[in-house]
Amino acid sequence: MVEENGATNAPGVNGRAYTIVDHTYDVVVVGAGGAGLRATLGAAQSGLKTACISKVFPTRSHTVAAQGGVAASLGNMGPDDWRWHMYDTVKGADWLGDQDSIEYLCRNAPEAVYELEHYGVPFSRTEDGQIYQRPFGGMTTEFGEGPPAQRTCAAADRTGHAMLHTLYGQSLKHSAEFFIEYFAIDLMMDDDGACRGIIALCLNDGTIHRFRSQKTILATGGYGRAYFSCTSAHTCTGDGNAMVLRAGLPLQDMEFVQFHPTGIYGAGVLITEGSRGEGGYLTNSENERFMERYAPSAKDLASRDVVSRSMTIEIREGRGVGKEGDHIHLHLDHLDPKVLAERLPGITESARIFSGVDITREPIPVLPTVHYNMGGIPTNYHGEVLTKKGDDPDHVVPGLMAIGEAACVSVHGANRLGSNSLIDLVVFGRAAGLRCGETTEAGAIQPELPASASELALSRLDKMRHASGGTSTAELRLGMQKIMQNNCAVFRDGPVLEEGVREITKVWKSSGDIAINDRSLIWNTDLVEALEYDNLISQAAVTVFGAENRKESRGAHAREDFSERDDQEWMKHTLAWADDATQTVRVDYRPVHTYTMTNAMSYIEPKARVY
Ligand code: SIN
Repeated sequence: MVEENGATNAPGVNGRAYTIVDHTYDVVVVGAGGAGLRATLGAAQSGLKTACISKVFPTRSHTVAAQGGVAASLGNMGPDDWRWHMYDTVKGADWLGDQDSIEYLCRNAPEAVYELEHYGVPFSRTEDGQIYQRPFGGMTTEFGEGPPAQRTCAAADRTGHAMLHTLYGQSLKHSAEFFIEYFAIDLMMDDDGACRGIIALCLNDGTIHRFRSQKTILATGGYGRAYFSCTSAHTCTGDGNAMVLRAGLPLQDMEFVQFHPTGIYGAGVLITEGSRGEGGYLTNSENERFMERYAPSAKDLASRDVVSRSMTIEIREGRGVGKEGDHIHLHLDHLDPKVLAERLPGITESARIFSGVDITREPIPVLPTVHYNMGGIPTNYHGEVLTKKGDDPDHVVPGLMAIGEAACVSVHGANRLGSNSLIDLVVFGRAAGLRCGETTEAGAIQPELPASASELALSRLDKMRHASGGTSTAELRLGMQKIMQNNCAVFRDGPVLEEGVREITKVWKSSGDIAINDRSLIWNTDLVEALEYDNLISQAAVTVFGAENRKESRGAHAREDFSERDDQEWMKHTLAWADDATQTVRVDYRPVHTYTMTNAMSYIEPKARVY
């Protein structure tokens, strides 16, 4: 028998014993980025015993890198309305978003931002002391008929950084407990398909921790590191997504990968869209502001998929800049240096460090760079995880929730608008906390865990720790990243995608040959990187399979062989299951929610998407 919060030596795996420490919580949140912290805070505020597990110190989570701001129709800089925000989001998503969830997001956005303000986020201010808001791509007024909206609430260009610090402080104030530098290995699922908690490895001392909980909330972020060049931190390996696949549940719409137009050439480091919001513009080798040709109305502030494609076409047609003609220039050198210093201090520094450019004098070399995953774990707008069961496409998986970039609610559909990510984190983090308050009884006795509860996680850990193949993790990871970069990029084509499916399957199959040199359990980065690679490869596979399978162009999924959106056939969510044992992917579908949450807004009918 294992003592509550005490350690025991488990029978172990393959004759090797592991020290296991047991914990019981009402709610366990995995991930301490913006979504995870907001949910942790919300669950703790509801009086639930709440733990947050994170593989990095909370304020180092990837949200810290979110620069430009958080979208909410506060109307501080001109008229605005949540319904206009909703229209823009539906259009930005190219009609793949669930409109009930999008209504939930946009209606609740202002309240979520005011809460952040009251918690202490140091937003930039207007002359009269209100929260400063800047224009971002695809954000308009009057249902797309009016001028651009200034809707993105900013703390200079360090908005995510400010939010993380504030939310971490607030979570501590409400007595949430943190398990920092714990690497989550796998979910514990019972025979009825309910989630009963999670198993994690304490990186510091090598002990295994079994967290039993009524609700497990995955807030583990995206998987940008499946690609060679991305704005994502090295920690963005989609660990929660992979756990969901291993639990036999599907991921949704994984073929939709966002390229941010302005990653620094060569380094991949983000230059915020807020730079174009403040008046920056792109030029080609002829010094032409080419976005005027592609998006005559929104120009440089068209949505990200449109700008990334336009840049790629310019480079392909020989109008790229630089010795190799393989990138584009972003100009901020015409702006008042005082504005740059006040509103864009972070990217001023990034441009200097990563490209040697003084932005007050020279343009920044930029290139579309992988930035965000629209796909993820399917959920409803309460954050409850969904799967397809029989005829029910919206079956709730008991005990399991997902939020933030890990989740696919789906509010971003086929393409996310800039600054809708930070608002997604706080609106749905808050929603998940509220849902836990409604559906979870504080301190309720939880049934014993099934005897096999920790088997999946322990055998995975043990197998990886003692892997003695001939290929290093770095080699396998690089192979995967190159395939994703070359075969599943801004533009996609049948033969290239088919090759991508074949090549990624080869890498997936060769993963059994992985080599680990360090067999210890304490701060074993060799082991952690191998587990992270193992998480990435199944997500890479469902991404390429999904992209090859979807025979249309929609949002960020631009196929040269199927260049039009096909609502008749393809206005549906892809669901993909991955089998690590056979290295195969199975695909099915869920209908898009073509209804809103309330009568305040009626369904927005699909139409051509022009900016
Ligand atoms: C940016 O500031 O451009 C990134 C923020 C986002 O992706 O929404």
